[in-house]
This record gives sequence, structure tokens and C-alpha cells, in this order.
Amino acid sequence: MKIGIIGYGSMGKMILEKFIETKTVDPSDLFVSNRTYAKIMDLNKIHPQLNICRNNSDAVKEVDMVFICVKPWEIKIVLSEIGNDIKDNCHIVSLNGSVLFKQLEQIGKNKKISKMIPSVMAEVNKSVTLICHNTYVNYNDKTILKGLLECFGTVTEVPEMEIGMGSELTSCMPGFIGAIFKVITDEAERHTTIPKEQITQMVLETLYGTGTLLLEKGMSFDTLINRVATRGGITEEGTKIIAEKLPEIIKEMFEKTREKRSIITEKAQL
Ligand SMILES: NC(=O)c1ccc[n+]([C@@H]2O[C@H](COP(=O)([O-])OP(=O)(O)OC[C@H]3O[C@@H](n4cnc5c(N)ncnc54)[C@H](OP(=O)(O)O)[C@@H]3O)[C@@H](O)[C@H]2O)c1
Repeated sequence: MKIGIIGYGSMGKMILEKFIETKTVDPSDLFVSNRTYAKIMDLNKIHPQLNICRNNSDAVKEVDMVFICVKPWEIKIVLSEIGNDIKDNCHIVSLNGSVLFKQLEQIGKNKKISKMIPSVMAEVNKSVTLICHNTYVNYNDKTILKGLLECFGTVTEVPEMEIGMGSELTSCMPGFIGAIFKVITDEAERHTTIPKEQITQMVLETLYGTGTLLLEKGMSFDTLINRVATRGGITEEGTKIIAEKLPEIIKEMFEKTREKRSIITEKAQL
């Protein structure tokens, strides 16, 4: 099967490299295009068989599936450029969660379209990739797409109306976790003589171990809290403050991300 990748930025590059590195797709079956051609023109030095395309039309003419890896407000331009050249049964995969199927479907009647929300954790094969499909994507198309995306980690399907919260919980989450633990390590530094690098290492190992413990033992957050925050102990003092003050911050965080998502959807109107 031949696959197109339009947009060779952070995500397009990651998809291309993962497909090749994991031998999921042969470079000779990949067709890549990017607005700034200079960014892709030397890729044949690394992948001699890769098809490097001068424009987006050339990246879709022969392909059975195309990944659109551009910013949401750039998608409408791409769709208008490829609309006449794309094969009737080509499966279009958009990487953006905020651009709705009803917007994407303006490319043409009965087109198979899916949305895929990747996560930066794909770099270590630990991504939880979200997918959702429009009504024209059949069981076979879904299975093929899922099979391809499993080279990044796990794949989870959600309905379109849940892609927002789904993205917050997977794609955005590494950023949220990074922001929270930056506050924790910065604050810890003010109360200790332990060097910053050592603080970071201790917290990261604990974070990794906590995730592993929860996943491997099937342990709930409540069980974990009860195991560590014993009654009258030191941890309990900390967990009480978190339970009291953090919900307000998280509520505001989700309100803001939802608001931003609506603005992006509006901006991407075709
Ligand atoms: N980054 C993430 O972690 C992440 C996670 C989930 C979803 N996403 C979604 O994935 C999509 C891509 O994000 P990104 O982070 O990869 O963006 P990016 O790094 O800005 O890359 C976008 C690429 O698209 C190219 N481009 C723009 N207009 C084009 C056109 N008309 N034809 C061909 N190529 C075009 C740009 O080319 P130039 O070289 O000319 O700029 C650039 O290389 C976005 O919709 C984003 O919301 C990203």
C-alpha cells in the first residue's frame, strides 16, 4: 500500500521516521511533500527509495492513504490543492482534532476520512494514539490504519465529540505532566541543598516507577494514595493540600483548553 505524508514538520517527520525505522512501511511506498521544498529535498541521501514530491498533488496521486500533518488553519489550503488529484478510495488521515469531519468532508463526496491524534511519546514507542473515523471508513480501513499506528504504541478509538478531552488526556498530557513536575522540582530546590540534577533524577525515576506500578498491578489512584499516605503521617499532609487546592486549577485548565479548541475549530473553517 502506498502512503502520502503532507507536511514535514514535527509530526510529519516523526511519522515518516517511525514507519521506516520500524519497517512498517517501505520507503519506496512513501510519498512526502512539504510547503518549503528545501526541507525535504535532501531526504534521499538518508532514504534513497523515498519519493520526494515537488507539490501536494504529486504526494497524493498514487497513494491509498494520506496523512495531513499541517497546522489546522493550513488544512483547508491542502485540501483545495489535493481535491482533484486524490484517488476516490484514498483514506485521508488528518492529524488535527479541532478540525471537524464536516469541515474535512468538503474535499469531496463519500471520502474516507479519519482523525489521528499522535503524542510525542511515540518517539519512545509509548504513545497512546487517538483515532476516530467518519462514516465512510469501513472495518478493513480501520484495521489497516490501526495496524500502521501501532508502531508508535497503543491506539484508542473515541467518537468525534470526545476527541477534545481525549487529546487533553493523551497528546497534551505529557506537556501538563512536564509543567506540574517543573513546579514541583523548582519548589523542592528552594527547600533543599540537593542539586537540581539529582532532584530531577529522583522525581523522574519515581514518576516512571509510579506509572509502572499502577499499570502492572492494575492499582487505582485511591489504593495508591491509601498505601502511601498513611493516617497521621507526613504524606497525608501533602495529599490533603493537593485534594483541597488542585481541583480548582485543573478545572480552570480544562476550561481554557476547551475554549482554545473552539477558537481553533472556528479559525479552520473551510
Ligand atoms: N506537535 C504535536 O505534539 C502534535 C500532537 C498532536 C497533533 N498535532 C497536530 O499535528 C499537525 C502538525 O503539527 P506539527 O507540530 O507537526 O506542525 P509543524 O511542526 O508546524 O509542521 C507543519 C508542517 O506543515 C508544512 N506545511 C504547511 N502548509 C503546507 C502546505 N500547504 N503544504 C505542504 N506542507 C505544508 C510546514 O511547512 P514549512 O516547512 O513551509 O513550514 C511544516 O513543515 C497540527 O495540526 C497539530 O495540531 C501535533
